[in-house]
Amino acid sequence: MTSRRPRRRMGDAVVDVWLRDTGVERAPAPGVDDAGALDEHERERWARFVDAPSARSYLALHLLVRTQIGLLLDRPPESLRFDRTCPDCARQHGRPLLVDDPGLHLSLSRAGSVVALALSRSGPVGIDVEQAGRAQFEGFGGVALHARERGAAGAPSGAPSVAPSVAPSVAPSVAPSDAASWVRKEAALKALGVGLRVDPTTFLTPRPGVPTEIVPGMPCLTVMDVDAPAGCAAAVALTSGPGGFEVRRH
Ligand SMILES: CC(C)(COP(=O)(O)OP(=O)(O)OC[C@H]1O[C@@H](n2cnc3c(N)ncnc32)[C@H](O)[C@@H]1OP(=O)(O)O)[C@@H](O)C(=O)NCCC(=O)NCCS
Repeated sequence: MTSRRPRRRMGDAVVDVWLRDTGVERAPAPGVDDAGALDEHERERWARFVDAPSARSYLALHLLVRTQIGLLLDRPPESLRFDRTCPDCARQHGRPLLVDDPGLHLSLSRAGSVVALALSRSGPVGIDVEQAGRAQFEGFGGVALHARERGAAGAPSGAPSVAPSVAPSVAPSVAPSDAASWVRKEAALKALGVGLRVDPTTFLTPRPGVPTEIVPGMPCLTVMDVDAPAGCAAAVALTSGPGGFEVRRH
């Protein structure tokens, strides 16, 4: 009798997501005392912010990261060690990896007072949150959208929003808003660990739930939109896996 390896089902892949508006949370804002949980690199970065709201959201996000991972691993938040080595210059500003447990993948994002964290054991993950207004500027399409997508969102009715034949990664009739397109692309590039070293205009906006190879030769990934606080768009991406994944909101 042939023994068959159990196939991974779609529901097996899970990404846990936290999205918080640190500007409206009732809890007291994190302060200097809380910064003791950060490592030296995080404290230095936090101290360099010149505007208070950015400093506050940076601190809130990194405390959230340490608290949630600490709970998962049953470890004190301040004991967690991260490596953020940039593959280009070796400085500590690249994709964060959890040294203590590399199988637990994480991704983080900040947009104004809104912070986002994604954790997954199903594969490398990427999350992005953006204020919708940040995608509303002259020339956005030229820096963010593939040539076939430009003008799609505001196209006259009846015009195809995107070329249907280009890739299975794009919905045939509904174009995402500029902000939705941006967060899907950036979440995808973060999941690959390359960030904006890959030009977002070189690939089409991934379609939610559809595995897509956005960079030739790099792993396939799947993006999902995530409900975000008013005025923001958010998306999460997961590499590997056969298709969609469960997003658990916290
Ligand atoms: C990743 C990137 C797209 C995020 O930009 P952003 O929209 O301004 O910021 P976000 O708040 O959404 O995300 C920031 C987080 O992304 C993460 N990040 C940084 N580089 C990353 C990468 N290559 N892949 C995945 N995540 C990355 C970090 O955790 C960072 O959090 P931190 O600043 O609190 O440490 C951008 O920093 C980037 O493209 N970096 C790569 C560019 C590069 O490496 N150039 C070469 C330099 S030598």
